[in-house]
Amino acid sequence: MSTCTAAGIARILAVICLVGSSFGQSYPDESYATDLSTNIGEAEPRDAGVALEFRYHDHDQMTRYLRAVSAKYPALTALYSIGKSVQGRDLWVMVVSSSPYEHMIGKPDVKYVANIHGNEAVGRELLLHLIQHLVTSYDTDPYIKWLLDNTRIHLMPSMNPDGFAISKEGQCDTIHGRHNARRFDLNRNFPDYFKTNTKQPQPETEAVKEWISKIQFVVSGSLHGGALVASYPYDNTPNAIFQNYAHTPSLAPDDDVFRHLALVYSRNHAKMARGVSCKSSSPHFENGITNGAAWYPLTGGMQDFNYLWHGCMEITLEISCCKYPPAHELPKYWLDNKESLIKFLAEAHRGAHGFVVDERGAPVERASVRVRGRDVVYHSTKYGEFWRLLLPGTYRLDVSADGYLPQEVEFIVVESHPTLLNVTLHSAKGFEIRRAALPKPTAGTPGSLSKAIRRTNTSLTSTVETRIIFPDN
Ligand SMILES: *[C@@H]1O[C@H](CO)[C@@H](O)[C@H](O)[C@H]1NC(C)=O
Ligand SMILES: *[C@@H]1O[C@H](CO)[C@@H](O)[C@H](O)[C@H]1NC(C)=O
Ligand SMILES: [Zn+2]
Repeated sequence: MSTCTAAGIARILAVICLVGSSFGQSYPDESYATDLSTNIGEAEPRDAGVALEFRYHDHDQMTRYLRAVSAKYPALTALYSIGKSVQGRDLWVMVVSSSPYEHMIGKPDVKYVANIHGNEAVGRELLLHLIQHLVTSYDTDPYIKWLLDNTRIHLMPSMNPDGFAISKEGQCDTIHGRHNARRFDLNRNFPDYFKTNTKQPQPETEAVKEWISKIQFVVSGSLHGGALVASYPYDNTPNAIFQNYAHTPSLAPDDDVFRHLALVYSRNHAKMARGVSCKSSSPHFENGITNGAAWYPLTGGMQDFNYLWHGCMEITLEISCCKYPPAHELPKYWLDNKESLIKFLAEAHRGAHGFVVDERGAPVERASVRVRGRDVVYHSTKYGEFWRLLLPGTYRLDVSADGYLPQEVEFIVVESHPTLLNVTLHSAKGFEIRRAALPKPTAGTPGSLSKAIRRTNTSLTSTVETRIIFPDN
C-alpha cells in the first residue's frame, strides 16, 4: 500500500509516494516522481474517453495523450519522466501493468524505447497504440490480463523528441532529425565494451543510463526505421576494422537466446520473417534477423550496453523501410507489428529466475549469477532477484557474493514455464579458505563480463581511420 501526498499545485503536481510495505519501493524506483498533472484545469473532461488517432503526434500532443491515459487508467498506468532533452522536452515513460506504481517482487520489468533517431517516427506512434491496446484490452483479453498482472511494461515513445521536432513526414531516407539538438547520434553515445567511446555523453543518453541502472529490465526492444529486420548483439566487435568489410558476426555468449528473441519478433510480424530487402541495393536478411555486427559494426550502441552493463537483453527492431512514412500508412504498421510487440515482451517469462538469499532468508544484493559456459555475469537485485533467459536444456548456475561460499546449482529449463531457482548462500565465516573477492566493476566498465572475455582478441583493432559508408538505420 502506498500513501501519496500531493506536494504542489497548479498544472504539475509533484507527488511523493511513501510506501509502507517491508519491501518498500516507491514508484517509480526512487527518484522518478509520477506525473499526475492529468487534465486538471484543462478543457478536456476527464471521462471523455481517450481516443488515439492514426496520425503523428508532436511533443505536446503526445504529452496530452499520455496524461489523459494515466488519468483515465490510474490502476493500470503511471507516467514518469526520466529527464529532459537538450531543448528541455520531457523524456516520458509510461508504465503499463496491474502494479504501475510498484515493482512486483519476483516479476520482470521490461521496456521499449522508440525514436532514439528522431526521424525514425513509426515506433513512436506504435508505442502510443501499444499503450492504448494494453489498457483497453485488460478486461477483455485474458492473455493481456496475464501479461499485465505478471509484467511491468515501461514504454518510452521518444528518446529523441528534439530530433523528431525538426523531422518531416514523408522523408524516407534522409538523416535530417536523426541526431539530438547538439548533433549527436544517440545510438553511438553509450559506453562501449569493445572500443573506447570518446563521444561526449548527451543528456538523453545520461538519463537512459541512469534509468536502466535503477530498474532491472529483463528484455528490451529499441525501435528504429529504415529497414525491416530484428538485429541482435553484438553491434560492435573486437576486430572492427577488418570485420567491417567481412560482415562477420560478433557473437554474444547468449547468441542462441538473442537469435530466438529476434525470431520471436520477426515471425510474429506480418512480413519481417520473409526477409525481403527494402530496396534492391539493401541486404536480404534470412528469416528477418541479423547479428548487429554482421550487418555493420558500430560503436556506442544502446543494445550492447544494456546487455553488458545491466544484463538486459535488448535487441534493435527496424520496423519500416521508410523512416517517416505518411500518416495514412500508420494503421498498416500497427497491424504488422502488434502481435510481435506483445509476444516479444512476454519472452521475459522464459528460462530461469529466482532469488539469492542468505541462511536467514534475507536477500543478497549484487550476487554474481553466471551460467556455466556463458561468459557473462548477471547480478541479483536488492530483493535478491535474478532472471536468466534461456532456451530449454540443462544448465549449471554459479552464484557467488562477497563474504559467502560460492554455490553451484544444476537445473533444467523447459519450454512451457520458467524454472524457479532459489539459491541460499552460506556465510564464509569460519571457513579456512575464503573465496578470493571478485574484482569490483568500476564506473565506465561493464560489471558483467569476466576476464576470459575481456581478453577477446583485439590485436586487429588498429587506430587507422577508415571511412566506410554504412546504412544509417
Ligand atoms: C523462493 O524465495 C522467495 C523469496 O524469498 C519466496 O517468496 C518463495 O516462496 C521461494 N520459493 C520456493 C519454491 O522456495
Ligand atoms: C588473435 O588473432 C590472430 C589473427 O587472427 C591469431 O593469429 C591469434 O591466434 C589470435 N589470438 C588469440 C588469443 O585468439
Ligand atoms: Zn535508427
